[in-house]
Amino acid sequence: MANKQSREDGGSGDRGVPLIRFASIGKYYGTVHALRGASFEVRPGEVVGLIGDNGAGKSTLIKIVSGVTPKSSGSIFWKGEEVEIPSVKVARRLGIETVYQDRAVVGSMSVAENIFMGRELMRPFLGFIPRLDKKRMREEAGRLVVDLKLNIPSADHLVRFCSGGEMQGVAISRAMHFRASLVILDEPTTALAVSGAQQVLNFIRRLKEEQIACIFVTHNLHDVYEVADRFIVMLQGEVVADVKRSEIDVEGLVELQLSRKRKEA
Ligand SMILES: Nc1ncnc2c1ncn2[C@@H]1O[C@H](COP(=O)(O)OP(=O)(O)O)[C@@H](O)[C@H]1O
Ligand SMILES: [Mg+2]
Repeated sequence: MANKQSREDGGSGDRGVPLIRFASIGKYYGTVHALRGASFEVRPGEVVGLIGDNGAGKSTLIKIVSGVTPKSSGSIFWKGEEVEIPSVKVARRLGIETVYQDRAVVGSMSVAENIFMGRELMRPFLGFIPRLDKKRMREEAGRLVVDLKLNIPSADHLVRFCSGGEMQGVAISRAMHFRASLVILDEPTTALAVSGAQQVLNFIRRLKEEQIACIFVTHNLHDVYEVADRFIVMLQGEVVADVKRSEIDVEGLVELQLSRKRKEA
C-alpha cells in the first residue's frame, strides 16, 4: 500500500516537491488589478478547494495556469521547475486539464468525440496513412463512462442529451484518459441541481483515487468541504488563508470567509 500514507494525510503531506506552486502571481486587466501576488501550492494527488467571493481573482488564476490568459508578474513552478504556460496546448502537455462549467463539452458531438476532441486516436491505413481510430475511441469512451458510473446509453450518444452533471463527467473522462496530473474545475456544481452536484463530487473522489490532483473553485463551501483536503481562501486578488480540512469544520470555513471580509471592510 504505497499510497496509504498520502491517502491518510489527504495527499497533503508536507514532504516532497509540490506538483504546482504559484509564487506571487500578479495580473492586471488594463487598470484592473485582479491578482496582487497570489501564492500557494498543490501537492500530488491533493484536492484543493479554492474559495472566495465573486471578483476575488479565482477564475483569473485558473485562466493563467490553463494557458488562457497571461500573468503580469510572478512565477509558476511545475514539479519544481519554473514554467511558462502560453497556451492551452502547453498546459495539457504538462498534464493540466481544465473543466469549465459553461464550455466543458460540445453538445453537437458524441461522448467519444468530446473525450478525444483535438487529440484523436489514429491508426495506420494501408500501412502508412493515418486514419481516425473510431472503434478504439468508442471502446475507450465506453470504458470511461462505465468507470465514472455515467448513465449514458453509449459513447455515440450526443452530449447535448446528457444532464449537466454528466456533461462534467464527460469532460472529466477526458482528463482521466489522458492521465492528467492536475484537473481544475471552475464552479463545476454552481449551475447544477443537488443530484448533479453530488455526481460531480463523486467524480472528484474518483480523480483522487487515481492520485490526480484537483483544484476545485467554488463559492459553495458545503460542496467543497465534502471533498477537499485543503482550502485556499482568496480575497481581492490575494490568498488570505490556507487551511487543512483536519483543522476546520464547514462552519469554521464560513466564518473564516466572513471574518476576512469584515477585516477588509
Ligand atoms: N477580461 C477581464 N477584463 C477586465 N477585468 C476582468 C476580466 N476578467 C476578470 N476581471 C476582473 O478581475 C477581477 C477578478 O475576477 P475573477 O478572476 O473572475 O474573480 P472570481 O473568479 O474570483 O469571481 C474582478 O474585479 C473582475 O471584474
Ligand atoms: Mg470565477
